[in-house]
Amino acid sequence: MAADSLDQVVSLCKRRGFLYPGSEIYGGLQGTFDYGPLGVELKNNLKRLWWQHNVYERDDMEGLDASILMNRYVWRYSGHEQTFVDPLVDCKTCKGRFRADRLGDAACLKNSKQHPGECEGELTEPRPFNMMFKTQIGPIPDPESFAYLRPETAQGIFVNFRNVLDSSNRKLPFGIAQIGKAFRNEITPRNFIFRVREFEQMEIEYFCTPGQDEQIHNTFIEDHVNWWVNVCGLSRDRIELYEVPAAELAHYSKRTVDIMYRFPIGLEELEGIANRTDYDLGSHSRDQEKLEIAAAVNPNAHSTTRLSYFDQASNRHMVPFVIEPSAGVDRGVLAVLCEAYEEETLENGETRVVLRLKPALAPIKAAVLPLKKNEPGIVAAAKQIKNMLQATGQMRAVYDDTAGIGKLYRRQDEIGTPYCITVDFDTLGREEENGLKDTVTLRDRDTMQQERVAIADLPALLLGRIYGAS
Ligand code: GAP
Repeated sequence: MAADSLDQVVSLCKRRGFLYPGSEIYGGLQGTFDYGPLGVELKNNLKRLWWQHNVYERDDMEGLDASILMNRYVWRYSGHEQTFVDPLVDCKTCKGRFRADRLGDAACLKNSKQHPGECEGELTEPRPFNMMFKTQIGPIPDPESFAYLRPETAQGIFVNFRNVLDSSNRKLPFGIAQIGKAFRNEITPRNFIFRVREFEQMEIEYFCTPGQDEQIHNTFIEDHVNWWVNVCGLSRDRIELYEVPAAELAHYSKRTVDIMYRFPIGLEELEGIANRTDYDLGSHSRDQEKLEIAAAVNPNAHSTTRLSYFDQASNRHMVPFVIEPSAGVDRGVLAVLCEAYEEETLENGETRVVLRLKPALAPIKAAVLPLKKNEPGIVAAAKQIKNMLQATGQMRAVYDDTAGIGKLYRRQDEIGTPYCITVDFDTLGREEENGLKDTVTLRDRDTMQQERVAIADLPALLLGRIYGAS
């Protein structure tokens, strides 16, 4: 199981409506992709399962949905204005611009078979390039009226720490979870949705007292590896942990461990779990030196809120430490697609493409298929069953009669639908009395085994198999 090459997954995604290149009819926009009808279901399912595990199944978590546009001073004090940079080099010959530390990911503009630096072109010295997108706020463009599109969702959580604390009366340790868009002006967006300029993150900022941080960090690493394996279906032997060396740590981090997944393009980061210490809450808190610097630029540009916590045990204010699990939604989608993809050779020598998604992730949970589309009784029964499954409110079910039954099964296999339900003459009880009236054939995507099931039992049976399975 698992795709051998990214091309297999890219082709399936386009063909079946998981993902399309962004703005395609105008020639596209590099580093952007649009989720199609099946892609949006898969992505929503992934996010819902993450929220379920990290918020609903815990007693120590709150949720948040902060604005994408934030006061630009957030990004000054978070350190992003200064340090959120990648090393940029230009090729003096082909005029291409490349990320100096990722030349192996890029191709020379004159000879696409060679990487920059391997060809004749001479590269400039690397210079820092800030990856934050800027946008204009309000109608009058002046040097002060810009904002950044957030490059991480995390800062929305930090600046609301006091608000959440006051409105929820939480005690340490507790966390705030958020899922939302982030934007980065990547120099070399690449590898389908692996590195894009607009993407989503699923982040937690977990606040604790210094001293608790190291153990909580380790617990999150273990818990999140297990989530990717048990809930999302990634195989454990394609996952590795990467202890980020001190020289590569982000400016806020004391320790970061990346959960790496073996994509067809190689072993790459899926989620980063960082110990951000008290860096962010500390830098956003009122601090006399910063107030003076900020007030010199703009009198309204400082935070007047102290993002601290009153610890009753020690009877003092302290700035909590923060453990941050931060996963990319789009990388998660790509990982589950790559993992689930299989070209299976059947006993009769034919090949079928099957997407062995965990049922809870599958865009469509059940397809109801009539054995004959010209038989009004069969068609009516099939549509009724589809409506009954849909009415559970917990699964997307579809009716399809646009091809013969064999072809319909193959189509559903390819998009990962775990169950097909076939309605035939036995369902109607028109054949000789054989005890099969009001039953249907239930086909399992993975084993292709079929069983006869009473229609009345279908909703409970399917819900148990779909959600019990993850
Ligand atoms: N708040 C911490 C933070 O943003 P990060 O390692 O820069 O840390 C976290 O990003 C996750 O976001 C990554 O592990 C990755 O899954 C995802 N991510 C980052 N940049 C991305 C990009 N350009 N395209 C898609 N996903 C990206």
